[in-house]
Amino acid sequence: MTCMNHRPIVLITRRIPTSLLNRIESDCQVRYWDSDETMPRAELLRQATGVTGIYCLITDLIDGGVLDAAGPTLRVVSTMSVGIDHIDVAACKGRGVAVGHTPDVLTETTADLALALILATARRLPEAMAAVKEGSWGTWHPFWMTGSDLYGSTVGIVGLGRIGVAVARRLLGFGCNILYTGRQPNERNAATAQASFRTLEDLLAESDIVTVHCPLTAETRHLIDAPALRKMKRAALLINTSRGPVVDQEALYAALVDGTIAGAGLDVTTPEPLPPGHPLLTLPNCVVLPHIGSATVATRHRMATIAADNLVAGVLGRPLPFAVATRL
Ligand code: NDP
Ligand code: DGY
Repeated sequence: MTCMNHRPIVLITRRIPTSLLNRIESDCQVRYWDSDETMPRAELLRQATGVTGIYCLITDLIDGGVLDAAGPTLRVVSTMSVGIDHIDVAACKGRGVAVGHTPDVLTETTADLALALILATARRLPEAMAAVKEGSWGTWHPFWMTGSDLYGSTVGIVGLGRIGVAVARRLLGFGCNILYTGRQPNERNAATAQASFRTLEDLLAESDIVTVHCPLTAETRHLIDAPALRKMKRAALLINTSRGPVVDQEALYAALVDGTIAGAGLDVTTPEPLPPGHPLLTLPNCVVLPHIGSATVATRHRMATIAADNLVAGVLGRPLPFAVATRL
C-alpha cells in the first residue's frame, strides 16, 4: 500500500473513464486535464513539471521540451495509442524513461476499418450515397457508379505487422492475391497472410490496391511520394490508415486530379483535422475519414485501460505490460 503523502505525481492529458481515473488515483496524485480537447502546449509544459508519469494521446507532442519540463522525476510516458510518432522515444530512452503503448487490442478493429475504407473507395460508396440523397439517382444504368472489384484483386500491403496481417486475413476471404513490402521479409507474418514479398517499387507496380500500415518514422515520411504514385497502375487505389505524413498529400492530390491513380481512401491526413475547405475534399475519387481506425467503444476502453496499466506500472518502477520496443 503506497503512503498517501508519497504517491508519485502523474499528468493525464485528456478526460478518461472515471473508473480508470479512480484506479490511477489509488496509486498516484493526479494532475488531470478534465477536457475532451487537446491540452494546450503551454499548459502541458507547465503541468508536466516534476511528474513521475505522463498519460498522453496522439495529439500530445512529447518531445525534449516536455521531458525537460518534467525533469529527472519522470519514469514513464504512456500513450493511449499503438502509434508512437508523437513521442521522442530516443530521448526517453536516453533519460531512462519507459514508453508504453497499446498494441494488439486495436488490431482487429483497425483492420475492419481498413477493409471498410477499401470497399468504400473501390465501390464509390460516399458518391453513391450522396447521389441518392441529392436526387441524381436516375434510372438503372449499365455503367453508372461503376467502381472496381476487391475480390480477386492484387493488394499490396506496406508494413506487414499486426494490422497488416489482420487486413491480409480479411482479404483472403475476398480471394485477393496479397503482396507485401517492408524493411526486410517477415516469413512468419507472410505465412499467416499468405503474402509474397516485393520491393516497394514492384509492389506499387503490381498492385490494384496499395494499403499502408507501417508506422510513421523518419524513413517512412513521404514514402508514398510523386515518383511512388507514378509507379502505380492508373486504375489503382491508395488506402492509408497509418499516419498522414507517410503519404505526400500534395503529390497525392495531383495524382488524383491528373489520373495517375484512380482513387484514394484516407483515414489519416496532414493536418488532422483536415480543414473543411481542403482541396482533397473536393475530389469525388478521394474518401476521407476522421482518423477512426480504432474507434469502437470496446476497443477505446481497452486502449484506455492498457494506457492506465502502463502508467501505474511505470511510476511504481515495475515492467510495463506493453512497453515500446527500443529497436525503431
Ligand atoms: P506493427 O509494428 O505491428 O507493424 C508495422 C509494420 O510496418 C511492421 O511490419 C514493420 O516491419 C513495418 N515497417 C516498419 N518500417 C517500415 C518501412 N520503412 N517500410 C515498410 N514497412 C515498414 O504496428 P501495428 O500494425 O500495430 O500499427 C501500425 C501503425 O498503424 C501504427 O504505427 C499507427 O501509426 C497506425 N495505426 C493507425 C490507426 C488508425 O486509427 N488509423 C489505429 C492503429 C494504428 P519491420 O519493423 O519488420 O520493418
Ligand atoms: C493509434 O493507436 O496509433 C491510432 O492512431 C489511434 O488509435
